[in-house]
Amino acid sequence: MSLVVKNVNVVTSSGREILKNCSWEVESGGRLGIIGESGSGKSMSALAVLGLLPEGMKATGSVLLDGEEILGVADARLRRIRGSKIAMVFQEPLTALDPLMKVGRQIAGPLKLHRGLDKKAAAVRVTELLKMVALDETERIAGSFPWQLSGGQRQRVALAMALACEPDVIIADEPTTALDATVQADVLELLASLVERLGTTLIFISHDLPVIAKVADDLIVMRHGEVVEQTTVALGLSAPEQEYTKHLIQSAVEVNYIPGRSARRGVGEGDGAGGVMDDRAGAGDARTGGSGTVSGSAGAVWTGSSGAGSDSAGAGGNRTGGSVRGRGEGVVVDKETDAGSEGESDE
Ligand SMILES: Nc1ncnc2c1ncn2[C@@H]1O[C@H](COP(=O)(O)OP(=O)(O)OP(=O)(O)O)[C@@H](O)[C@H]1O
Ligand SMILES: [Mg+2]
Repeated sequence: MSLVVKNVNVVTSSGREILKNCSWEVESGGRLGIIGESGSGKSMSALAVLGLLPEGMKATGSVLLDGEEILGVADARLRRIRGSKIAMVFQEPLTALDPLMKVGRQIAGPLKLHRGLDKKAAAVRVTELLKMVALDETERIAGSFPWQLSGGQRQRVALAMALACEPDVIIADEPTTALDATVQADVLELLASLVERLGTTLIFISHDLPVIAKVADDLIVMRHGEVVEQTTVALGLSAPEQEYTKHLIQSAVEVNYIPGRSARRGVGEGDGAGGVMDDRAGAGDARTGGSGTVSGSAGAVWTGSSGAGSDSAGAGGNRTGGSVRGRGEGVVVDKETDAGSEGESDE
């Protein structure tokens, strides 16, 4: 399903403008990243779309879900949409999960509500979903309270809940910020592969550009409640138009945290403009064969400089080195770092 946000304004009861004339869109099956500093309006954008703004805030404008206006529609209609058509994954799963209810029952809730499954059928589906998010010991997990699980397990449970009714759109608001780097990479990889397999439209919010680069193709940059740039991730990285976007990229490079994400679209799907994003320079990446073309990017080049290594072997490649060049000539950023395994990385 596509989502088109047009001229959305959000004001508080005291008249403070939280979102100012925000417009952006994501096509059906598209993957959009929303980036911006703390307080820029990322979460409020998500909540405005879902009709979940805090008490007293008022939204105007338009939000079209596959052409249907959903901004300002009745609560009953919105409740049907949430969970079944659009699901949200929150930053800290503990806030979204009920501490007093075993997670199996929590995942089963929307299945019973939206899908009309009975207890037995819901239990079967819960097991299926837990397996889908790569959780073993499904019985133990389903029978646990959220606080009996690790952070990574909880985040996977939250993801399973969001996926339960196979929503057309998932909005993930900083879903991995609370996790350590290794678990974060696993959950991101999982999210990216699941939405790709299921054809889900993804809106992924983060203040962290390298994280967004792993899962999104398109990008909007927010600041002070406004959308300051809408672009593709590849173009945003290689040829940012706005000073603020340049600043975000520079910061990401300064902390030596180089994005690692295979191009989702394979070679041959490009528009002939020569866009290449390949951060896994070695052999062995089955999805891209070590070289992927990003369609729609005019000459954006992003080439990892690290040695051989496949994803699964965990050696080399990912986030260990890279260069970003703009439009094939003027180098925007070019940073070489040591190649090495993920395990040796000192992030
Ligand atoms: N309940 C609330 N009442 C009034 N203002 C709020 C409320 N929640 C957030 N805001 C304000 O709305 C603005 C946008 O906040 P938002 O939560 O969207 O930021 P964000 O971009 O998600 O930041 P972060 O990266 O820290 O999560 C901020 O100025 C914030 O202070
Ligand atoms: Mg937020």
